[in-house]
Amino acid sequence: MKLLVTGGCGFIGTNFIRLMLASHPDWSILNLDKLTYAGNRLNLLDLEENEPRYEFVRGDICNRELVMDLLGGKRIDAVVNFAAESHVDRSINDPSPFVATNVAGAQNLMECARQCGTGRFVHVSTDEVYGTLGPSGKFTETTPLAPNSPYSASKAGADLMARAYFETYRFPVLITRCSNNYGPYQFPEKLIPLMYLNAKADKGLPVYGDGLNVRDWIYVDDHCRGVELTLTKGREGQAYNFGGNAEETNISVVRTLLSIVGKPESLITHVTDRPGHDKRYAMDFSLAAEELGFAPTLPFDQGLAQTIAWYEANTTWLEQVQSGEYRTFMDSWYGERA
Ligand code: NAD
Ligand code: TYD
Repeated sequence: MKLLVTGGCGFIGTNFIRLMLASHPDWSILNLDKLTYAGNRLNLLDLEENEPRYEFVRGDICNRELVMDLLGGKRIDAVVNFAAESHVDRSINDPSPFVATNVAGAQNLMECARQCGTGRFVHVSTDEVYGTLGPSGKFTETTPLAPNSPYSASKAGADLMARAYFETYRFPVLITRCSNNYGPYQFPEKLIPLMYLNAKADKGLPVYGDGLNVRDWIYVDDHCRGVELTLTKGREGQAYNFGGNAEETNISVVRTLLSIVGKPESLITHVTDRPGHDKRYAMDFSLAAEELGFAPTLPFDQGLAQTIAWYEANTTWLEQVQSGEYRTFMDSWYGERA
């Protein structure tokens, strides 16, 4: 099978491409990525240099001509769309790029795939489309969409477009909705790598509000397996929830992280809460368990220790993705077909 993976230079896309090429000798992957601040081509440089089943193209999923060209000319069998603007705080500062990529870009990809008669299309979405939970209960696939941030609203917009493409055109789209991922290659604007960096530098750890917001953490490889199962076994037109069965308050995550890196809890600094901050996420993934055989494999404490060990061993990666020099280098490396 030849897959078009979009956003493959980001956190989850990188892990997905590595895992899929390692576990499917008969799969090849074309990675289309715009290389925004969150995309790092060097993540997969070893594959670019040594793996004939991997190919990279820099470009924008909103670019209709380019996407038509790739889907038409490269004999693609299926698409997995990870490309997105992904950070809630950035969406609060400026929602526009979120609408452009997450809604219009996703629709452009679906439309091009429909016109080219490409096979299955997995649209990677998020639990955040459901909004927020009270102290009890979990999100199921029939929970109404009620997004609270510009990020989650843009993801919900694409989910609804995907639904409409299935109902209207019988376009073979499937949706995955997963909870908070953690693991190698996560950009240090998200909770775990940001807190790790600050702790290492003995800087304050900015916990929003009281720190009692709850997220359901899943190790990134478990999410990638969920996407793989959806692609290979899922029902077209269906959305599937994925979660880690690991509900944790933010303050508890930060405390555990501090204990792993051997830094004092006095570094914790409570800061002004995020506007519209969702209180609690928790996923009921029984549909994916029953239909796809999905189960998360890594307990949170073990996954967190493994993740911190990866950051410890990859400090140059962290330095690289934060540096302006790196950005300039990426922009001059190859031209953008955007
Ligand atoms: P990320 O921000 O790390 O990576 C996004 C990637 O998309 C980057 O490589 C970026 O360069 C690329 N990109 C952005 N705009 C693009 C465009 N217009 N054209 C082509 N490429 C573009 O994000 P992530 O955390 O890896 O998330 C991947 C997907 O999974 C997103 O759709 C996100 O909504 C979803 N998701 C993330 C989480 C999580 O916890 N991180 C949880 C559930 C779902
Ligand atoms: P984040 O990693 O941004 O993911 P999301 O907003 O998609 O869940 O944040 C995870 C949780 O951590 C969320 O409740 C917000 C909180 N948070 C902080 O308290 N401080 C921070 O600096 C960040 C980035 C997040």
